[in-house]
Order: sequence, then C-alpha cells, then structure tokens
Amino acid sequence: MTSASPTRYTRIAGTGSHLPPRRVTNDDLARELAGRGIETSDQWIVDRTGIRARHFADDGVACSDLALAAARHALEAASCRPEDVDLIIVATSTPDMVFPSTACILQAKLGITHGGPAFDVQAVCSGFIYALTVADAMIRTGAARRALVVGAEIFSRILDFDDRTTCVLFGDGAGAVVLEASDAPGLLSSELHADGRHVGILCVPGTLAGGRVSGDPLLKMDGQAVFKLAVGVLADVAFAVLAKAGRSEVDIDWLIPHQANLRIMRGTARKLKLAPDKLIVTVDEQGNTSAASIPLALDQGIRSRRIARGDTLLLEGVGGGFTWGAVLLDY
Ligand code: UT7
Repeated sequence: MTSASPTRYTRIAGTGSHLPPRRVTNDDLARELAGRGIETSDQWIVDRTGIRARHFADDGVACSDLALAAARHALEAASCRPEDVDLIIVATSTPDMVFPSTACILQAKLGITHGGPAFDVQAVCSGFIYALTVADAMIRTGAARRALVVGAEIFSRILDFDDRTTCVLFGDGAGAVVLEASDAPGLLSSELHADGRHVGILCVPGTLAGGRVSGDPLLKMDGQAVFKLAVGVLADVAFAVLAKAGRSEVDIDWLIPHQANLRIMRGTARKLKLAPDKLIVTVDEQGNTSAASIPLALDQGIRSRRIARGDTLLLEGVGGGFTWGAVLLDY
C-alpha cells in the first residue's frame, strides 16, 4: 500500500524592502509644480489621499536595483542564500527594459547562475497579489521549493508632472518575500480577477514602435472611476478569500491593502469591522508604489514587530487592467 504524499503548503520565510533615499514631501512637490504654473498643496494631498511624502529614485537607478536591495533583505530574514531560490517572480509595471524580464536581471545581480525560472508579472498595482498566487501554486504543485517574489517600481519615470491629478500620488520602492514549501499553512486562500473593459481608466497608453515611442508614455488615470471600482471590488474579494478559507472577519489580525488612498483603505477596514489600528499604513510616507506597496507594508509591519508569527493577514490589491485580488495567510 502506498501512503498519500503529505499536503504541501506555502509559508513566508522572510520579508525585505527598500526605498530610494530621496524623500520628497508634498511641500517639495508643490514648490516644483508651482515652477510649472501648477497649483497644489500639502493640505489637498493629505485630505484627499493621506499622502505626506514619497521617495523618488535618482537618475541611473533601475527597477532591478530597488528589487535587489529588497531581495537581499528578504533572503537575510529567511536565512537563505540566493542559490537556495529556485523561482523568481518580479511584479512590476516599470521594468528595466522592454525585455528581458526584470526578474532575469535581478537573478543575475543576485549572482545566481543556471537557476530556476525567473519572470515578470504585469498586473499593475495588483501585481504582487498575482505574483504571490502564482508562486504559491508552483510551490504547492512541487514545481518550486523556495521562491523569491518581489514587487518593485519606479513610477516617478512614468509620471506626467504637468498633471497634478496624478503626479502627487505615486512613489518608488520595492518589497520582497521569500516563500518556501511547508507541511503547514501558510497561504490559506487566494482570489484573482480582471475586467479588461476598464483598460482606459488607468494606463500608460504609449508603446515602442519603429525605434521610437508611439503614443503617450505617461500615466493617465480617471481617479474617480478607479476610486468607485476599487471600493466595491476590494470588499468583495476580501469576503471571498475569507469564505474560501472557512474564516471570517474576526479572524483577521492585520489588513495589508494596496496603499493608494487612505480613504479607500479605511473604507475597506470599516466594511470588515476592523479597528483602525489593524490596518498597516505606509501610504502617508511612501505614496502609491503600485506593485511594491503591499510587500513594503508587509515588511514594515513585520520589522516594526506589530505583525507576529501566527497572525492572520489579509493582503489585497487593485489596479490597472482593471485587476484585483486578495491573499489570506497565516504568517
Ligand atoms: O493604484 C491604483 C489604484 N488607484 C487608486 O485607488 C486611486 C483612486 N482615486 C483616488 O484616490 C482619488 O480619486 C484621487 C485622490 C485621485 C482624487 O481625489 P478626488 O476626491 O476624487 O478628487 P477629484 O478628482 O474629484 O478632484 C477634486 C478637485 C478638482 O477640482 P474641481 O473640479 O472640484 O474644481 C480637481 O481639479 O480637486 C482638484 N485637484 C487638485 N487640487 C489640488 C485634483 N488634483 C489636485 C491637486 N491639487 N493635486
């Protein structure tokens, strides 16, 4: 008689993050925009978004550089070496190159030769949730044993500094997790969604053609349309992952949402009947770092010792595509 192979789960072994050193406050940005004849203020930005500052990468710094610094912290926290990793996924919308993937560039910078698969995931601000879910599936099926999953962005390169409705919202940074196979959960449930009818409400419509940029290479957003969609889908997907895992709102120790707007984040917490101090907030100091925002917030929650081993975390993201998703996990 053959015994059934034990169920395989995915757990977080370590986390890391990195912000480029240049901190830009709302007042700094307001002064810069005033020089272009555009009016904004710290008060407007704080009132509407909760953002007080963001970090911008200097010229010459690539997305893979931010990813590398975050990955090194995560590997150190997981007590493993780069060569122990057999899968690398980078979630980004601001890759170093059109191709190859930022994940391959990161793999080389980590000094891994002849490694396992390395690829990018493009789901804009939901990218980290997508990447985490793909890595979890590959670990559970045995296709990988230890995965490095990174969200890394340099949105400052695609911002239109003549458009005050978008350029005050975003920042640069990277966050990473090392995932490993485990006999106990781990990641409990996940939900991913997309609705391509809404491509136009958040996009960078330009592309490369014939050796030049064709179309507009800067970010466009219909903020109110995104806001309305985000509020609805984030609550729905949160309840969906809880139901899938046989858990309820009372089981959540920490909500770690995509950090785009404090009003949306608090709204989701209220729908889940969570106390405000159960929400990890980094948007105030980092702005919206797209695919990097969730792993940055996760790492900050862990390093500040608020999140402890055994806590139940709800991670959720929403962004261009339109894409959205959530992951429920026991840390
Ligand atoms: O990461 C993916 C997910 N993204 C999001 O979740 C973003 C979702 N959307 C939002 O967070 C909000 O819609 C924004 C923060 C983008 C905008 O907030 P809002 O409360 O929806 O403002 P609004 O677009 O309705 O604009 C209100 C006013 C307008 O002026 P009028 O027409 O009322 O005279 C804007 O022109 O605020 C004006 N405004 C500004 N004023 C000063 C827009 N941007 C600025 C600015 N400074 N930077």
